[in-house]
Amino acid sequence: MDKKGTVLSGMRPTGALHLGNYFGALENWIRLQDKYNCYFFVADYHALTTGYENTDDYKDNITNLLVDWLAAGLDPEKCTFFVQSCIKEHAELHLLFSMNLPLSWLYRCPTYKDQLTQLKDKNIATYGFLGYPCLMATDILMYKADFVPVGEDQLPHLEITREIARRFNYLYKSEVFPEPQPLLTKAKVLPGLDGRKMSKSYNNTIALSDSPDVVRKKIMSMVTDPARIHKTDPGHPEVCSVFSYHKLFSEDQVAEIEHDCRNGKIGCVACKKKLADNIAELLTPIYERRQQWLKRTDDIKDIIIEGNKKARMKAEETMAEVRRVMKIDWI
Ligand code: TRP
Ligand code: SF4
Repeated sequence: MDKKGTVLSGMRPTGALHLGNYFGALENWIRLQDKYNCYFFVADYHALTTGYENTDDYKDNITNLLVDWLAAGLDPEKCTFFVQSCIKEHAELHLLFSMNLPLSWLYRCPTYKDQLTQLKDKNIATYGFLGYPCLMATDILMYKADFVPVGEDQLPHLEITREIARRFNYLYKSEVFPEPQPLLTKAKVLPGLDGRKMSKSYNNTIALSDSPDVVRKKIMSMVTDPARIHKTDPGHPEVCSVFSYHKLFSEDQVAEIEHDCRNGKIGCVACKKKLADNIAELLTPIYERRQQWLKRTDDIKDIIIEGNKKARMKAEETMAEVRRVMKIDWI
């Protein structure tokens, strides 16, 4: 099939991917890899913007992210995987963009203000953290991506990216950079096990790396409708996280479950067992592929070496253009 347009997206290597990440991003990427010329990269420089203090797990986190991608079904034959810090051109372009990037664009970015107040235990009143959107613009524009699949939280960064492209083209009377469009994931929102947003910091996730046993235990300990004490008590599926999971994992049974819950015909234990079975159908194969890939870290390195080569070729091409129109190609 002829692939149309370039898609690029990245993830920060900050620990095990969970089901929220799977439905929020990965599932979409897996679909896109058949239709577009895709670059998917490990945004390890980005991880440093908030996690520069302790880099002990830096390499393991990168490997683990790649294992999660491969196990979930991203295919290096179909798309280009690379690791951001291996392509030094990112550092150069980031520096060049930073020269003309108005501080006001960075200060008004909503994610900057949010994170500053939320991540109070970290000192992120840094130059690097403020420049996060510049780094993201670099990733996207380096490969002249047409489409960037991101969640809604990343939209302000994409807007700055478009502004950076426009400003560069204007200043250097060129058309080096196209303006990328977001590809908003039709977000299937999966709450955490406790009903709040699924997030590592809330300790309420199901990780792609959880063994089938652990997944089952996590499901069986979910809190259900507190009004139900006996199986015959009528239930309220709308207040029950188990039910929101059923909507995603048990599409053909969900009407029956809702009816039986409301009429006290199904007990919560049986209901959770059904859910555990259906989630296992998705997760067990991922888990098994994960175990296989964990034994093949040399092959993963080779995949990245190949992907880096392809990415670097494109990055070198873009940088040659950039230096030429900026007239900083002295020799
Ligand atoms: N900022 C993104 C996130 O935290 C990760 C990211 C870095 C990214 N560079 C990117 C996403 C370029 C898309 C395109 O989720
Ligand atoms: Fe939730 Fe299922 Fe119990 Fe109803 S029967 S309250 S949907 S776990």
